[in-house]
Amino acid sequence: MKNIYSNIFKFNRNILKKTARYLKKKHLVALPTETVYGLAGNAYSDKSVAKIFRLKNRPKFNPLIIHYYDLKRAEKDVFINDELIKLYKKLSPGPITFVVSKKKNSKLSSIATANLKTVAIRFPSNKIIRRLLKELTFPLAIPSANKSGRLSPVDSIDVVEEFNNKIKIIIDGGRSKFGVESTVVNLTENFSILRYGAISKNIISKILKKKYSTLRGSKKILSPGNLKKHYSPGIPLILNQKKNIKGQAFLVFGKKYKNSKHTFNLSKKSNLKQAAQNLYKTLRKIKKLNYKRIYVAKIPNTGIGEAINDRLKRAAN
Ligand code: TXA
Ligand code: MG
Repeated sequence: MKNIYSNIFKFNRNILKKTARYLKKKHLVALPTETVYGLAGNAYSDKSVAKIFRLKNRPKFNPLIIHYYDLKRAEKDVFINDELIKLYKKLSPGPITFVVSKKKNSKLSSIATANLKTVAIRFPSNKIIRRLLKELTFPLAIPSANKSGRLSPVDSIDVVEEFNNKIKIIIDGGRSKFGVESTVVNLTENFSILRYGAISKNIISKILKKKYSTLRGSKKILSPGNLKKHYSPGIPLILNQKKNIKGQAFLVFGKKYKNSKHTFNLSKKSNLKQAAQNLYKTLRKIKKLNYKRIYVAKIPNTGIGEAINDRLKRAAN
């Protein structure tokens, strides 16, 4: 089936081969993952990775997540420790990213890792990206497919909105399953959460049988990309609101809110997973409707709600 956008493709064997060739030639492609859509390049190639930073207008100090098919392939580039094995067995492939130590003889582009001694690695579960990773002889550096600081895309049209025709191959895989990015955990020292995400900190804590520490209180910048201002829809957000201000957009969660023209409910069923799926799409929609501000009601801070609140806080900054 032809799409109205000539750079969006449905996935099939032909497009798989074409995409693989394209990546080998150091071009970039956009593709679905189970969290959000990503902008992918060959992680062993400085040239590919430099293109990613340029296109996203991403600061050079902010390293990319390296996506692998499986742990065996990752072992060429990073040291595997016990905690990684435990989490990998339970949660991978899936929406979790591990920060581990880089091997000296790793072929990873030092631009991708922002010259750090650590690397963030992830094993995505989305079927399309897994088919592609399996086919390739190199891992993929993949940030979210948006301009630096903006909302992450959750379908192929969002990617076109960010980059127009600058990306020649965008693979369509429908709406992202989780709708927020992967959880980033640091496994190089005491286990800590560097970015809240699709997998809650309690699940990780249970598997490791350990308490986590969070970034707060730590002076060292452990995760360079954890910028205070991020995930911005481009208009001001005002958090923890009880009711709406006339004519402004009101972003809410749950049964107790009545439908109205200006009310945008992330989940009428009070389901946090559904709210996460709808988050970025709803913020984009509100912006497009030309509202000047978004008033945001309180959203429960449990499970994936941690990630929703984290993103809203940064968007409000
Ligand atoms: O769900 C996801 O993780 C998506 C999909 C496309 O896989 N990717 C994504 O990438 O969110 P990006 O580039 O938007 O965010 C990567 C995060 C940043 O906060 C970055 O600072 C952090 O991972 N990161 C990367 N390498 C790191 C490292 N060595 N140490 C600490 N944080 C690191
Ligand atoms: Mg991002």
